[in-house]
Amino acid sequence: MSSLTNKRILLGVTGGIAAYKSADLVRRLKERGADVRVVMTEAAREFMTPLTFQALSGNPVHTDLLDPAAEAAMGHIELARWADRILVAPASANFMARLAEGRGDDLLTTLCLATRSPLSLAPAMNQGMWQNEATQANLLRLQERGVSVFGPGDGSQACGEVGPGRMLEPAMLAEALAAQFESGRLSGRKVVITAGPTREAIDPVRYLSNHSSGKMGYALAEAAAEAGAQVTLISGPTHLPRPDRVQRVDVTSAREMHEASLSHAAQCDLFIAAAAVADYHPAEYLEQKLKKGDSDQWQLTLVKNPDIVAAVAALAGGPTTIGFAAESENLLEFARAKLERKGLRGIIANDISREGLGFNSDDNAVILIDRERALELGPMSKTQLARALIHELSDYLPASASDS
Ligand code: PMT
Repeated sequence: MSSLTNKRILLGVTGGIAAYKSADLVRRLKERGADVRVVMTEAAREFMTPLTFQALSGNPVHTDLLDPAAEAAMGHIELARWADRILVAPASANFMARLAEGRGDDLLTTLCLATRSPLSLAPAMNQGMWQNEATQANLLRLQERGVSVFGPGDGSQACGEVGPGRMLEPAMLAEALAAQFESGRLSGRKVVITAGPTREAIDPVRYLSNHSSGKMGYALAEAAAEAGAQVTLISGPTHLPRPDRVQRVDVTSAREMHEASLSHAAQCDLFIAAAAVADYHPAEYLEQKLKKGDSDQWQLTLVKNPDIVAAVAALAGGPTTIGFAAESENLLEFARAKLERKGLRGIIANDISREGLGFNSDDNAVILIDRERALELGPMSKTQLARALIHELSDYLPASASDS
């Protein structure tokens, strides 16, 4: 059974008799570990009550675009950003038509317009409506825009007719959705990712560090695992749980991260340095806590740490190596200089001067730079950005024996 652990699924329910099956679908998604939020259209509420979905999902159900109370709790744009995937099940013929037209005349269509997350539909309707030219044209338009469609199934229908138009069973939908997270682009590959800050000890109670939370590196580890890779996450101190299906190696200092990276990097295909590594450590570690003393000044002598990502990039026969560049000015120029100086295949330039992005935030915006191009990604959630980056970075890998 494919996992949906930690995945945020926004389930849209539109008006149709199959809406009763969506209650079971919520249960199936939650069984696989997903966090589920439900959005119901007005027509859906003719078939099922929001209370049912609220009880099953454990979250409030969203119904109205212009409800100030709901907007204050979680606004529609926030909801669109929150979702890793949107699944509309059942998707009625009317909903598909409104979506194909790009309308935003209720909460669900507006969310589908605003989101950057993949969108899936599980159509359910009378067989005649499904086979109608207009519905098929709408289906094609939606598929051309990257919307994935599960089903519909064939068989006897609630209206007494027989043919295509039945919503797929909830278990099948949950499996199909979970399988989408496993794109397999990195299947059979080994990926090593550094994440979080390092701490450079001064004495038993003090250290030098930075504001990295580890969120970006952890999101990359999760996205690489979703894409089928065997992932090792070399993590500085963070408060984050180990991502599902990821092996974590905990380190504290830059020198420990250097040692762990070199011992894992030689056997991997892709190395991504997302960690904010301290450039220096104190020249001397004081075994006892330093007493304040009388002086108003404290001179600390620092010594350069090894450059981890440059050392990995220099390994003979080593992995495709990608760095980050956290810059507060001259983003492109400084990032390109790092790309060359460290001998990297690509660098992810992170403008840390932008409020709400970069260090210790849930969102980020970056420019992926290599010798041929500069690709802007975001702003978006770190989860979404990580997926987009893994998608791009997997193209850098030379074909493996199993690809041919
Ligand atoms: O952890 P979050 O709160 O989610 O924040 C994400 C982030 C901002 C930390 C991350 O996206 C990021 O930008 N990471 C790199 C931060 C950094 O230290 O950049 P830098 O420009 O100083 O280093 C350039 C590259 O060299 C980085 O890939 C870094 O990991 C690597 N490096 C730096 C020094 C060193 N001694 N060894 C290294 O490998």
